[in-house]
Amino acid sequence: MDRVKGKVAIVTGAAGGLGSAQASLLAKEGAKVVITDIDEAQGEKVAEEIGHEGGEAIFLKHDVSSEQDWKDVIEKTLSEFAKLDVLVNNAGVILFKNIKDTTLEEWRWVIKVNLDSVFLGTKYAMEAMKESGGGSIINLSSTAGIVGTLDTSSYHASKGGVRIFTKAAALECSKAGYDYNIRVNSVHPGVIKTAMTKDLLEDEDSRKEVTDWHPIGHVGEPEDIAYGVLYLASDESKFVTGTELVIDGGWTAR
Ligand SMILES: NC(=O)c1ccc[n+]([C@@H]2O[C@H](COP(=O)([O-])OP(=O)(O)OC[C@H]3O[C@@H](n4cnc5c(N)ncnc54)[C@H](O)[C@@H]3O)[C@@H](O)[C@H]2O)c1
Repeated sequence: MDRVKGKVAIVTGAAGGLGSAQASLLAKEGAKVVITDIDEAQGEKVAEEIGHEGGEAIFLKHDVSSEQDWKDVIEKTLSEFAKLDVLVNNAGVILFKNIKDTTLEEWRWVIKVNLDSVFLGTKYAMEAMKESGGGSIINLSSTAGIVGTLDTSSYHASKGGVRIFTKAAALECSKAGYDYNIRVNSVHPGVIKTAMTKDLLEDEDSRKEVTDWHPIGHVGEPEDIAYGVLYLASDESKFVTGTELVIDGGWTAR
């Protein structure tokens, strides 16, 4: 209990999947959580559920690819909770298409939602965290940011971008950079059961193929990732910056 007591955390894309599990766990461990998403109905529901369980959370509508939305979310967070300690750049989308069939418009949509968002979130959170005396930024990349697979090239490009942007941002935020006292790390899940992977896991043949990617013998649960995020959000990880927390059942070990 209380591993992030008193911290103020924004979790994007927290209306469902990995984001709602992260928001719930951070709230359970004492953080005040700002849940953001484009899905208003589900986002409100997650905030209410956290409230019913004794946690503190508010929901803000937020398109992570919009610069104005980021400015509004940071401003509202500061007016509600007076500081910002943790940002989890979690919102993301995937496109299952090979390079030949991907249009430039589709490519740009994936890059915008998955990578522009991380740049914008980091840019505006840095300002707020500096004022709060420091903080922790956690960027959801993927095993797809480390190794390739067939037919998801735009997703791989976006998640590879998140991985290396994280390291550059960690340096800028460190004492060797601009001395903001902000740690920046990336998290790399293997396949986890959420809406994003529903189709992959519903079909029996593809479920078997996807399961076989994981030497541990099964895919992951949202909580497996939430515990990694909790560690990076907490002061337990105070010496950790610019690193990759891989939570993938051994996928990238071979
Ligand atoms: N599920 C996996 O297997 C897996 C594996 C590796 C990495 N990830 C990454 O983890 C993160 C969460 O994935 P998930 O599986 O929970 O996905 P999900 O599809 O279940 O949830 C994503 C959430 O993001 C929201 N969202 C989409 N576009 C948005 C936008 N423009 N602005 C704000 N919110 C938006 C959706 O409404 C949804 O609530 C993503 O970045 C994803 O790439 C997931």
